[in-house]
Amino acid sequence: METREVIAARRSIRRFEDRPVPEEVVNSVLTAAIQAPSGKNRQPWRFVVVAGEEKRAAMIRCMRSGIEQAREQHIETGSALWTTRIMRKAPVTIFVFNPMGMHPWAAHSTYEMYLSTVDVQSIGAAIQNMLLAAQDAGLGSLWICDVFSAYEQLAEWLGEPGQLMAAVALGYPAEHPEARPRRPLSDVVRWY
Ligand SMILES: Cc1cc2nc3c(=O)[nH]c(=O)nc-3n(C[C@H](O)[C@H](O)[C@H](O)COP(=O)(O)O)c2cc1C
Repeated sequence: METREVIAARRSIRRFEDRPVPEEVVNSVLTAAIQAPSGKNRQPWRFVVVAGEEKRAAMIRCMRSGIEQAREQHIETGSALWTTRIMRKAPVTIFVFNPMGMHPWAAHSTYEMYLSTVDVQSIGAAIQNMLLAAQDAGLGSLWICDVFSAYEQLAEWLGEPGQLMAAVALGYPAEHPEARPRRPLSDVVRWY
């Protein structure tokens, strides 16, 4: 597929076929991730792949327990439970960590804040590469930030140091949604 076709065809997929994704296909998606540009070539990313029935079930238990605890503390969990149901059916979920991660407001200097913002952008580029590579391989994908509702639980369970940035669900699509609306260029672009 041509690059522009892949970009145009990609959708957030929330229903997946119940069949595994071969390891080499997952690796090709991860290879696209690490081919992304990164500020100062810091490559501020680590990936943890969760696949297989047992691991998926444990992941979902983490998500549910995190959401439950958040709710007990009257913390807004938004669409997290809904997203958990999607993750339950996704054959593969890839968690993305920033090994050097910190919250910008925890930065001790302007330079740290700068680096932290740069790293967030680099990770975004890596994730978008994953989604496009997945599309090119005939997979559906979903970029997930609802994992933040179970941040502590997932981070502890995965045992990966650094900041949990997002997750990406992957699988063969069992739906083919229409493109979601976008604001027109005239709304979001100003030629100065
Ligand atoms: C940073 C980010 C976080 C997202 N988090 C979630 C999520 O937690 N759950 C979910 O169902 N979709 C999530 N999405 C998918 C968006 O809802 C989706 O990209 C948007 O509605 C546009 O639809 P499209 O991807 O099909 O073009 C996320 C997307 C991005 C870029």
